[in-house]
Amino acid sequence: MNTIIAGLQWGDEGKGKIVDYLTESADFVIRSQGGNNAGHTVVAHGVKYILHLLPSGIIWDHKTNVIGNGVVIDPVGLCQEIARTEGQGVSITPEKLLISDRAHVVLPLHKELDAAREVALGEHKIGTTKRGIGPAYADKINRSGLRMADFTDPDYVRERIAHRVVEANDILARYDLPTFEAAAVCAEVFTAMERLLPHVTNTIPVLHEAWKAGKTLLFEGAQGTLLDIDFGTYPFVTSSNTTAGGACTGTGLPPMAIQRSIGVCKAYTTRVGSGPFPTCDEGLSAYLHGLGREFGATTGRPRGCGWLDTVLLRMACMVNGVTHLAVTNLDGLDAYDTLQICTGYDIDGTVHPLPPARRDLWDRAVPVYETLPGWQSDTTACTRYEDLPPAARAYLDRLAALCGAPVGFVGVGPDRAQTIAV
Ligand code: IMP
Repeated sequence: MNTIIAGLQWGDEGKGKIVDYLTESADFVIRSQGGNNAGHTVVAHGVKYILHLLPSGIIWDHKTNVIGNGVVIDPVGLCQEIARTEGQGVSITPEKLLISDRAHVVLPLHKELDAAREVALGEHKIGTTKRGIGPAYADKINRSGLRMADFTDPDYVRERIAHRVVEANDILARYDLPTFEAAAVCAEVFTAMERLLPHVTNTIPVLHEAWKAGKTLLFEGAQGTLLDIDFGTYPFVTSSNTTAGGACTGTGLPPMAIQRSIGVCKAYTTRVGSGPFPTCDEGLSAYLHGLGREFGATTGRPRGCGWLDTVLLRMACMVNGVTHLAVTNLDGLDAYDTLQICTGYDIDGTVHPLPPARRDLWDRAVPVYETLPGWQSDTTACTRYEDLPPAARAYLDRLAALCGAPVGFVGVGPDRAQTIAV
């Protein structure tokens, strides 16, 4: 059975851990969108790995990991990530890591353009990770990007980069940001490409052969549904389709190649960056930060925290065709006495079960809450659903009923062993 793992909130749902858990039975682990704006923390055998572009299956032996055509690759960042992960004892060979020749490249100037755009937006800034993701996808759609395959033709790349540097410098100079020399950009990127090119191949037939041969494929989503360029809280979103459909466009595999859709959500809600967050709660944020939880893996920023929001989850389950929910970080709520679940948004006196598209409606959305008792006991050693305290099970059952999808997995701690299969 082939599975997509999609984030149902604003990213950081703990997808890496669920992917890692399911990797045991997978032959291929595939990234199909996003870039090194993602940060997946995987803890296995007491070792913590922070992955940005590498699929989580990389820390296993004998798994094939694919970075698909829908991903945008920062070659310098990926080389650093490979070196760091190799330093932790993980081997990364061309057999183990395949990079699509159609994946677009994030150039150093894309990162500065990202910063420039944020400055230009002022108080309306998106709060991006400044990894150049938006500008790289913009170049792709604008048909002015460079793909991994282009780097087999250095003269073509030099010419394109020279052209792009002139355009970018124009914008950067306006914001007093550092400008670029085409030769220096080429030198930096070509050095990184020497390490990466042995991994670059046409991944489409490889994936199709694996599918036809009955191999088990695992699609590792990055970010979350509310950051999707179409379904998220636009414009406070990332620049890719983070939802299930992105797994097809980002790999060249058709929809019927995927049979199971696991939607990952936290037992509460978090968000980094700007944009609407109706259930945000200062008390819960302070409490979770006090536990040392909820600091971003990519930027170290403290995440805003709030109550579980089933308005978001209901839409996310629809869009992703979620067949099973994976609820992570249940243990984060262990010590809380009273919990809230948002069941609808009251907008000007009418309760809405689904999130709005209009920005001004988001600003006026007041969460409607249901209050549930906390369990106030340690769940981190629970290994079976039946071991969970009754109040924790009631909370999960209510979550599932409100979202319209059953709970398939529950996370009660960061370690691989702390995942309950229901
Ligand atoms: P960008 O993807 O860097 O352009 O950032 C756009 C928005 O997506 C910002 O709000 C970021 O904080 C958010 N974002 C991007 N990647 C992640 C992620 O992996 N986890 C959580 N938020 C993310």
